[in-house]
Amino acid sequence: MGNFYLTTAIDYANGHPHIGHAYEKVLADVICRTKRLQDYTVHFLTGLDEHGQKVEQTAKERNITPQALCDSVAKEFIDMCGSLNISYDDYIRTTQTRHKTVVRDILQKLFNQGDIYKAEYTGFYSMRVERFLQEKDKVDGIWPKSEFGEVTEITEINYFFKLKEHKQWLIDYVTAHEDFIFPKFRAKQVLEFLKEDINDLCISRPKDRLSWGIELPFDSKYVTYVWFDALINYISAVGYGADNFSKYWPVDYHVIGKDILVPAHSIYWPIMLHALDLPMPKTLLAHGWWLCSGEKMSKSIGNVVDPLDYAKQFGTDAFRYFVIREMNVGQDSNFSHELFISRYNNDLGNDLGNLISRCINMLQRYGDGTIPAASKFETLEQELIDLWNRTRLQVLDAYNQLQFHSALEDIFTFIRAINKFLENRAPWKLAKSNDIEDREHLHGTLIVCSEAIRLAATILAPILPTTSQKILAIFRIDRIEWGKQLEWDNRRLSGVQITTDAMILFPRIA
Ligand code: MSP
Repeated sequence: MGNFYLTTAIDYANGHPHIGHAYEKVLADVICRTKRLQDYTVHFLTGLDEHGQKVEQTAKERNITPQALCDSVAKEFIDMCGSLNISYDDYIRTTQTRHKTVVRDILQKLFNQGDIYKAEYTGFYSMRVERFLQEKDKVDGIWPKSEFGEVTEITEINYFFKLKEHKQWLIDYVTAHEDFIFPKFRAKQVLEFLKEDINDLCISRPKDRLSWGIELPFDSKYVTYVWFDALINYISAVGYGADNFSKYWPVDYHVIGKDILVPAHSIYWPIMLHALDLPMPKTLLAHGWWLCSGEKMSKSIGNVVDPLDYAKQFGTDAFRYFVIREMNVGQDSNFSHELFISRYNNDLGNDLGNLISRCINMLQRYGDGTIPAASKFETLEQELIDLWNRTRLQVLDAYNQLQFHSALEDIFTFIRAINKFLENRAPWKLAKSNDIEDREHLHGTLIVCSEAIRLAATILAPILPTTSQKILAIFRIDRIEWGKQLEWDNRRLSGVQITTDAMILFPRIA
């Protein structure tokens, strides 16, 4: 099916993982798994953004070296990926030599080409966001303290990357390429930003102000601005300059939060690539924000959600289910503990978990643990088969359109229909009868229910990988291949001896 390359933002090395970081990884992971199951050769990159003033400052406060801070934060973020079952292929850290070499090569190339120049600049600098501010950053005539912190006027000689002259090219590009930004409504925001003048980008910091960065190859008194350094990870990690770079580039998705779309990913990055004569990313996927009780999460409010607490307490798949079910990709969403528990108990516990234990129980009781041979079906069975055929198409389409919340809605409608089917067929009543037709119906019920569960588990695999594996193991299936396994087949499981006599997937939380 070809290659598929996806990246996430690289997280700042000056904080701890929270639900925002966790969600982004899970979303990226779900996309990659859907692609692998469609036979793409996937390359999934994530990593850590380790330079800059904030990292230097946090290290100072803790009385450790910036590298020691990065090493300990990297461990936390890598552990988080492990706990959330994130199937990344590569983890880049911007202090790695492979990255620093490419950043320096690119700086030198752009400098030689005349895209980088030296100039004196007087401006208002925000340490919080690590950049010179512009008039358009003001709200009601001032730079909001909540966003920019302390703002000071400074005059400095620095190096600048030419952005201004590419403005019209970028406007034309964004306008002509509908799929460049997802969701589409965010392209307006980018074009809005481009309506006004844009300044060239200051890409250096004098070492006497900041030393924790990549030294400029053409002036050892400066280090590189952290965003210029960080964005390059997307190409340094896949061998920019090497032969097989074109196997990966252009990237299919840059998965990022909406806060870093403008200007970093939609203005700086495309223009950097354009200056390097590289093709544009296919899609910038800007997801929304997780809020807590409608507010931005913040340490001072004390409403930061620790994803690892949830994964540890309720299981990795329960956490993955919740964030994917609740977030319409692109919109904001609210995290609430009550909602988490209710989704867990109702969807995962009642609808899915109980169905599985009920089905195992029936197969043991009425079939001696073996799925009977195919039997003749009537309307009830046919209705469930028809529903699956519709569900399969809807879900695959939703997966490819990044509508994961609605894919889950459809899958769980199907799962509830399996439960309803069992209630209607009432196999416990059929089992008491000696009538030959009732026997046939009983067998039919067992087959249809097992096959429906197999299909639901197979299509759920990208979102609930562990649960899906556990369910399929009941039927002795250890490999998922969507190409062959998403079609309803009454004969596929017949004669299979199931592997267990009990399974409680999501024990109820009181
Ligand atoms: N280091 C930069 C990204 C550089 S990419 C070349 C950065 N790091 S971050 O740690 O602040 O954020 C990492 C990702 O997490 C970003 O995509 C950001 O949007 C996302 N989130 C941070 N908080 C979030 C929420 N509350 N909700 C959802 N995602 C948010 O930015």
